[in-house]
Amino acid sequence: MDMKKLAGDKAATYVKDGMVVGLGTGSTAYHMVNAVGEMVKNGLKIQAIPTSKATEAQARELGIPLLTIDELDHVDLAIDGVDEIDPQFNAIKGGGGALYREKVVASMAKEVIWIMDESKLVDKIGAFHLPVEIAQYGSKQAMERMAGYGWNPVLRVRDGKTFVTDNGNYIADLHLGAGFDIQDVYSKLTGMLGVLEHGLFLNMCKRMIVGHSDGTVDVIE
Ligand code: 5RP
Repeated sequence: MDMKKLAGDKAATYVKDGMVVGLGTGSTAYHMVNAVGEMVKNGLKIQAIPTSKATEAQARELGIPLLTIDELDHVDLAIDGVDEIDPQFNAIKGGGGALYREKVVASMAKEVIWIMDESKLVDKIGAFHLPVEIAQYGSKQAMERMAGYGWNPVLRVRDGKTFVTDNGNYIADLHLGAGFDIQDVYSKLTGMLGVLEHGLFLNMCKRMIVGHSDGTVDVIE
C-alpha cells in the first residue's frame, strides 16, 4: 500500500467546485495532483496555482486550469507535502527545493492541509535537514554566516552540480539535529542577508492527512 498515495487521494476529497487550490510539490503531492486531475476530467470546476515548475507541468498535462502568481488574489485551499512535522504542527519543508513558492501559496491560503506518510510525524523536528533558499550572489558569505551559528550548512548538489531552484537560487541544507531551538533559528534566518526564504513552516496548517503502512489514513486536526 502506497502511504503517500493514500494521503494524496484523501486530501483531494477536500477540493470542491469553485475553489482556488494551491498544488504542492513532491512525491506525495504528486498523487494528490493526479487525483485532482481525475476529478477535473469528471467535471470538477476549479482553478489552481502550482508551487513549482514540476507541478505546473504535471497539472497542465492533466488539464487542470491554472492561474499565474500575478493573477492570484486568494487561495481557498493549499495541499502540500512535508519533510517532518511535530505535534505542535511545526514543519520542515523544502526537501524538493520548492519551499519559497510553497510558502507564498500556503501563506495566502484560507486553509492548508499537509499530506504525508507516517514517517514524517516526529516528536521534535530537525533530524531532517532544514532547507534555506539563498541568492547565488554572496552565497559563500551567506553560508559562512549560517556556519557561524553552528548550523552546519551544506550547499545542495544534484547530479554533480549545484542545485538551482525554480527562482534561480541555491539551497543551503542546515544540519541542526532534532530538538534545535526552533524560534531562535526562525528569527535569525528571517531577514538574514542573502536568504530569500527558509523551510520552517510554523503552525501554518490546521489539518494533516497521514497515510499508514496498514492501509489506513488519519486526518489529524
Ligand atoms: C518540496 C517539499 C515537499 O513537499 C517535501 O519535501 C515532501 O516531499 P515528499 O512528499 O516527496 O516526501 O517541501 O519542496
